[in-house]
Amino acid sequence: MTANESGRGLTGEVYYPSEEIVSQATVKDYETLYRRSIQDPQGFWAERAEELEWFSKWETVLDESNPPFYKWFVGGKVNIVHNALDRHAKTWRKNKLALIWEGEPGDSRTYSYHALNREVCKFANVLRSMGVKKGDIVTIYLPRIPEQIIAMLACAKIGAAHSVVYGGFSVEALAERIEDAQSRVLITADGGWLRGKIVPLKETADEAMARQPTIETCIVVKRTGQEVYMEAGRDYWFHDLMSLPIANQACATEVVDAEDPLFILYTSGTTGRPKGVVHTHGGYMVYVYTTLKYVFDLRDEDRWWCAADPGWITGHSYIVYGPLMLGATSFMYEGAPNYPYPNRWWRMIENYAITVLYTAPTAIRGLMRYGDAWPNRHDLSSLRLLGSVGEPINPEAWRWYYTVIGKERCPIMDTWWQTETGGFMISPLPITPLKPGSATRPLFGIEADVVDEHGNSVAPGEEGYLVIKKPWPGMMRTILKDPERYKEQYWAKFGNMYQTGDSARKDQDGYFWIIGRMDDVIKVSGYRLGTAEVESALVSHPTVAEAAAIGLPHEIKGNAIHAYVILKAGVEKSEKLAEELRNHVAHEIGPIARPEQITFVESLPKTRSGKIMRRVLKARALGLPEGDLTTLEE
Ligand code: WTA
Repeated sequence: MTANESGRGLTGEVYYPSEEIVSQATVKDYETLYRRSIQDPQGFWAERAEELEWFSKWETVLDESNPPFYKWFVGGKVNIVHNALDRHAKTWRKNKLALIWEGEPGDSRTYSYHALNREVCKFANVLRSMGVKKGDIVTIYLPRIPEQIIAMLACAKIGAAHSVVYGGFSVEALAERIEDAQSRVLITADGGWLRGKIVPLKETADEAMARQPTIETCIVVKRTGQEVYMEAGRDYWFHDLMSLPIANQACATEVVDAEDPLFILYTSGTTGRPKGVVHTHGGYMVYVYTTLKYVFDLRDEDRWWCAADPGWITGHSYIVYGPLMLGATSFMYEGAPNYPYPNRWWRMIENYAITVLYTAPTAIRGLMRYGDAWPNRHDLSSLRLLGSVGEPINPEAWRWYYTVIGKERCPIMDTWWQTETGGFMISPLPITPLKPGSATRPLFGIEADVVDEHGNSVAPGEEGYLVIKKPWPGMMRTILKDPERYKEQYWAKFGNMYQTGDSARKDQDGYFWIIGRMDDVIKVSGYRLGTAEVESALVSHPTVAEAAAIGLPHEIKGNAIHAYVILKAGVEKSEKLAEELRNHVAHEIGPIARPEQITFVESLPKTRSGKIMRRVLKARALGLPEGDLTTLEE
């Protein structure tokens, strides 16, 4: 590829794919297929769905009778696990590696499709024997170990929904998710390894269970081996249950409706508590399969590494379900990228001959700061494609990733999407000419646009609201127990267009440039957090009267949390108290939410109706004009 090649009609800094990449690509003509997918979306998606196995076929591809509560593949009987495991276990693929895993201390395990299926069947039997069934929501709180994948698939196999809580979250974050889902079963571990230390998950789980006593059974995977508290009659070791005779029985995959829930995944929104985004078996299955197949063009000889955590949507879709449906070999790593040295990732790419690496800009920036010598010590020639997700990638990081890691051979798939969208929405294909920092163009079946306050398309180059104009199979179906909030938050503003919450602009070539969140969601190191969650953690501390949190730019993390705190009368401000508050937030939500800085203030800028004006705080912190202050009370 060459930058700035003229004569091909695209403007700006452009990187064209090599002849070799183009000749190997599955999709060679984006325009034609895109046009087809927009003219006849139902025909297009029905064809994609036909590539997978159904117990019985759908009657209607898309039911639009009650917008925005769209339904896909209505009447179809299916189970995503049938497509992820069962069907491979019947073919030669049973011998293929499904998963290669390396723990942070250096231990490793591999699972063939046959072995993974066997473990999932065993654990599904265990869960069934405990009475877990369709309609239940099982909470999973595990480190990045194979059991996390096994637990998710076992739930789905028996028709129960899983709610995975990221292992980096802490007490209150876990407790409120358990409470909202009314989970009776929790799956956790004694601990996980991070930077050579044990993350004590069971301890956190115990505290969370004390706050939310809905959990009747807690299954504990032994990972780190230290002594942990086990409550008789409630806590059971995973390995003990897996060695019960009942685990070894045959295990049939539950037949479910296409629209039955597959999982709940909590994510931060504008206000209040995290919301439970609901995804279903049928539409999600078709969407994740199709997007991964087209964007990363996975083949049997590939070794795919999605370096996210299964606890986030990226991991759900592109560590667990997508690669397995495609019969791919995935790599997963438990720990920190720079442990024990900054070459950990590059060494593993060489050791395992990884062909596609999919990660986040924050990880790239974090590794970039150690310099080129670390990656240059390793043979990275197995790589053929790279990927990015989670936040806009700054051009400097893009160029480093492209040059130093991809050796100017590997196109970068900058995929824009959300927990709510289920899978990639705006993304290049391997054949797409790339512009650093742009997620390029919408994928098949996706009508994306940038609009003004009234929902009208804005001119090229102008900033506006990023919206999606038509439903797609991977879309969320609702917010658990709160359909009104789903309607209000995503569909109300522009009357039947999906509002993403992001601002963006489209250039004259039709390329999308995502600018960032327009609401009170902060992306910290690619993790999605809400200002409201941080604020409520702060006010749960006995010294705090009121708090406001904002995100400010940070070189590595993208954004960092800054909090403004009003102390209760009589409480002395001090550096020690600031540190205590930072730790308190980390203990309640998780280390990722720990504020970078806490500033003690006497008052906060508010509207007359009492809402904190975070944009004013942000403008002040950045030394920018404060904008329209007519509603400011102060
Ligand atoms: C941001 C992560 C720019 C965006 C899959 C979106 C991105 C939010 C990109 C969703 C990208 C994700 N370029 N911004 N390639 N990918 N975002 O739900 O603001 O954790 O709304 O899903 O991440 O975050 P979520």
